[in-house]
Amino acid sequence: MADMDGSIETKDFHPDIPSRNTPFFLKGSGALDWGMQSRLARIFSASSGRTVMLAIDHGYFQGPTTGLERVDVNIVPLLPYADALMLTRGILRTTIPPSFPRGTVLRASGGPSILKELSNEQIALDIEDALRLNAAAMAVQVFVGGEFETQSIHNMTRLVDLGNRHGVPVLGVTAVGKNMTRDARYFRLACRICAELGAHFVKTYYVADGFETVTASCPVPVIMAGGKKLPEPEALEMAYRAVSEGAAGVDMGRNIFQSEAPAAMIQAVRMVVHENARPAEAFELFQDLKNRQA
Ligand code: R5P
Repeated sequence: MADMDGSIETKDFHPDIPSRNTPFFLKGSGALDWGMQSRLARIFSASSGRTVMLAIDHGYFQGPTTGLERVDVNIVPLLPYADALMLTRGILRTTIPPSFPRGTVLRASGGPSILKELSNEQIALDIEDALRLNAAAMAVQVFVGGEFETQSIHNMTRLVDLGNRHGVPVLGVTAVGKNMTRDARYFRLACRICAELGAHFVKTYYVADGFETVTASCPVPVIMAGGKKLPEPEALEMAYRAVSEGAAGVDMGRNIFQSEAPAAMIQAVRMVVHENARPAEAFELFQDLKNRQA
């Protein structure tokens, strides 16, 4: 029995203070269960409502791409600056310190390598393993208009069903097939299909013309994909425009880890995404940090 001697009897129930019912901060996520919201809050900052995700999952179809030859050497030093990591379970288990406190978004689809038809993916992760690894979300590629469109969408809906059952959000990643036009019309279609069929957030490419219609017509948070390596000022400009036009952050890979100064670049991206810094100001930070490390 607990020791009751000296227990304080006076209680204050604060009857004058109404209970708070604070809405969850992410678009379209208010009706999700607590575990799902908690996982999303490990990816997105509650103060800015945005995320800087670092994408390092490229090896799942293209092997040791430039900048990812040694994740332990090149990527682990960047972890303090990443709100979340997008990666495979293989790299997570072998190379990422379990003390990494933020969200991990596990690549959950795969199959073909760059030598084959990329849209021919299948589910490549068991929900049990995602839970065992304490994943914050699962990522699945969706090839709208691609050769294996239906199969890839079915991969996503199957993962959404499993994710909903266990409280793990799903990131729908809009993949662009070789013959797809990268315009707002296409990305509106692809993002909306992902959200309608249950994706909890969506990753898509930036387009200069009409990106705000892509984010506006998608009822869940949209994250900008990085794409091929650009000069740093252009990548910062793209990130700035994307968040100004409604993106809930970025998921950038090559534009960070292939930069001549990756740690400086990810910090500059953070300044744009979380502080609404202008691209020129963020580029100044990049140069300053780069020069200091030299
Ligand atoms: C995209 O389809 C894959 O998930 C990539 O491996 C990765 O996320 C791409 O990142 P980035 O285009 O910024 O290098």
